[in-house]
Amino acid sequence: MVSMDKVLIFDTSLRDGEQSPGVALSAQDKLEISHALARMRVDFIEAGFPASSPGDFEAVSQVAKDVKGSAIAGLARAVARDIDACWEAVKYAEHPRIHVFVSSSDIQMLHQLQKNREEVLEMARSMVAHAKQYCSDVEFSPMDATRSEPEYVYRMLEECIEAGATTVNIPDTVGYAIPEEFGEFIRNIRENVSNIHKAVISVHCHNDLGLSSANSLSAVINGARQVECCVNGIGERGGNAALEEVVMAIKTRGDLFGVSTNVDTTHISRVSRLMSQRTGMMVQPNKAIVGANAFRHQSGIHQDGIIKLRETFEIIDARDIGLTRGGLIVLNKNSGRHGLKSRLEEIGYEITNEELDRVFVAFKELADKKGEIDDRDLEALVSEERRTVEEAYKLDLLQVSCGNQLLPTATVRLLGPENQEMATTATGTGPVDASFKAINSLIDLPNELVEYNVNSITEGIDAQGEVTVRLEADSRTFVGRGADTDIIVASAKAYLDALNRLLASQGRKEAVATTP
Ligand code: KIV
Ligand code: ZN
Repeated sequence: MVSMDKVLIFDTSLRDGEQSPGVALSAQDKLEISHALARMRVDFIEAGFPASSPGDFEAVSQVAKDVKGSAIAGLARAVARDIDACWEAVKYAEHPRIHVFVSSSDIQMLHQLQKNREEVLEMARSMVAHAKQYCSDVEFSPMDATRSEPEYVYRMLEECIEAGATTVNIPDTVGYAIPEEFGEFIRNIRENVSNIHKAVISVHCHNDLGLSSANSLSAVINGARQVECCVNGIGERGGNAALEEVVMAIKTRGDLFGVSTNVDTTHISRVSRLMSQRTGMMVQPNKAIVGANAFRHQSGIHQDGIIKLRETFEIIDARDIGLTRGGLIVLNKNSGRHGLKSRLEEIGYEITNEELDRVFVAFKELADKKGEIDDRDLEALVSEERRTVEEAYKLDLLQVSCGNQLLPTATVRLLGPENQEMATTATGTGPVDASFKAINSLIDLPNELVEYNVNSITEGIDAQGEVTVRLEADSRTFVGRGADTDIIVASAKAYLDALNRLLASQGRKEAVATTP
């Protein structure tokens, strides 16, 4: 009988994932995602980089105060002020961790830090010791480890463990490693770092060559017992190892790995959708585990096999990641408040009575329009209800006329901060353009729309459309989303959501245009 060792899952979606170009999460977004990650039972949530901005400091503190069940980590460079800020933010957590990093490759030490090996070694050692004064759980990462001289990395790890690091994380920062080579590196660390038994070996792999999950798994085979990863594989450049790939590979091939994780995999699908909603980063349809096609079969031969015995062409049961197939639990307009509440609880929402009142009204309206409501619709309804930003401007009315012989025209009425009505009409190249122009002439918030995406939440012609917009203003990015069975309404809601976020970031309550 193989002993099922645990591989700890360290989710860095809110830190490295947030470093994805164009992603900007508010403190409320981070809080909501952290609760979902904790419910999924990841062992660690790296909530941010507290010294990087006052906003991130605040977000990490809030996560540390509110989220129970998972340990909360913050990132810090090997400098005292970063570590001090990190501790101030994570100290409220049930289980706080300080994650200290410094470069170990010659190319980064010489050209970026402009320090020699001995100087960097001393920074690493002394700053781990500094972090240890605050926190018993200290993780240390030699950045760019895979392009560093191995003997130097061994020495650095040894000194950092001696100074108090309880986890040593080996980053493949630029996604350069190849699985066999990376596994061997981990094995060599175990053999060449004399005090390695006092620390957990972790890995953190980037996906520049598309090998981040393979590298992480090769490390697990060679003794790594923590994997750092992001939901949907988001992250800097090509991203990080995808949490769902690492976790499901370990689960599906338990025969080979002989290890398990603490993750409740039935949350994967929902957390994946939440992550893409909040970050605005869509998941490609053929993405392993969480892509829309991951459990779809096109070939007749495959379909025939699946009908006879699912395992003929599937290695994962969709229910294991929280997808229900065939026996989809569907609510409809006859479902009551109680039925709605219990289904929401079953799919992981803790919902207050006031929230339920509002979601129930929206649920009935939607059920009247589209008949059957499944879990994905419910998630969209709760997400609409729980907008993670103060809604200074709300859509009250939208009417458009368009067509191949008409000038697209939109009439928009908004409710402003004091519930005052404001309305105007605009024309545009299409109904979305006309609606956005009308909104722009009511709200004075200059911005550049850099992305517009529309997706269908469920199958079927009557499905809700989910719109994500990304806009830039004040050298920052704001992501907004909206859902509705009418995609023009969803578009207007998404645009207003992004504008409300922009307004909140400026600490303003209103931005009424003077000449609508
Ligand atoms: O990729 C990397 O090296 C990192 C470190 C800060 C761990 O993200
Ligand atoms: Zn990274």
